[in-house]
Amino acid sequence: MRHFLSINDLKKEEIEIVLDRASTIEYGWEFCRSMNNKCIASFFAEPSTRTRFSFERAMHWLGGRIVTAADASASSSLTKGESLKDTFRTLGQYSDAIVMRHSDPNWPEVARMYSRVPVINAGSGSGEHPTQALLDLHTIRQKWGIVKNLKILICGDCENGRTVHSLIQLLNMYNCKIFYCPAKIYAASGDHELDLPEKYLNQFNCKKIEIEEVDDILSNMDVIYMTRIQKERMSKEYGSDCEIDFFKINKHNINKVNINAAILHPLPRNEEISEDIDDDPRADYHERQVRNGLYVRTALLDYIIYKNPIFHARTTV
Ligand code: NCD
Repeated sequence: MRHFLSINDLKKEEIEIVLDRASTIEYGWEFCRSMNNKCIASFFAEPSTRTRFSFERAMHWLGGRIVTAADASASSSLTKGESLKDTFRTLGQYSDAIVMRHSDPNWPEVARMYSRVPVINAGSGSGEHPTQALLDLHTIRQKWGIVKNLKILICGDCENGRTVHSLIQLLNMYNCKIFYCPAKIYAASGDHELDLPEKYLNQFNCKKIEIEEVDDILSNMDVIYMTRIQKERMSKEYGSDCEIDFFKINKHNINKVNINAAILHPLPRNEEISEDIDDDPRADYHERQVRNGLYVRTALLDYIIYKNPIFHARTTV
């Protein structure tokens, strides 16, 4: 069974196929196979705007169908104590593939063991968000042509930001140089940095930059990837009166950014990107990046679903 639960579930060659297909889809819809009679279960047990809508729109574009739970943490049998294992078993009876978002970072392992249909990770707590990384890479590829040896600066919540975790694994496949600037928390219980988890620091070569130093390297960066502080995932021990310091981009420092750079953000944004730079030509987060979610997820659904023999063998509709 081919799932897409982590970035590592696709080889680099396969990622290239999906992204090339995404470009083809953008310019000519005749390359899409029809998913007539095929159905995905779109099960979101955490909030989502872009990811859920783009997956569902992608399935419509492929001519397929959707059964959906937008508020599954409140409306599904999870509230009655049903396990994730039983949830996957059940959803597989009603759909040909599952798109899942849930706050438990370990749910992908449960899916790998118990799902009888392919599962795509649309966000696993503070773990991974591999489809966001694909669309981020696609946006970088469009901007720079070739993604090789690029310098990427990642700012914000590097500890809890799942998009960051998937993206650094992906950028590493392309020999990019990763710089990162974690946010800092000043709390009565002590200071804390929202640093990259150790498993990534041990595996990849990422250079930490202090908040005060970021302005000095902006002109040298090819991509600036901003993220919000994930307050909902932060430890309660910091208390509501803690102070958080993080790098912000605004009309005062935008002129220091390399003229060809891409400024990206998985969204939603808070104060880390000021609205006064939204119309800058380097601000690719609102239109290009969001729109790419649709093309990349269409290509991915097509690829993952057709890769699985079960898809040809049975139909649920
Ligand atoms: C992100 C997510 O849900 O992880 N958003 C997204 O899917 N585009 C980022 C976030 O919540 O900060």
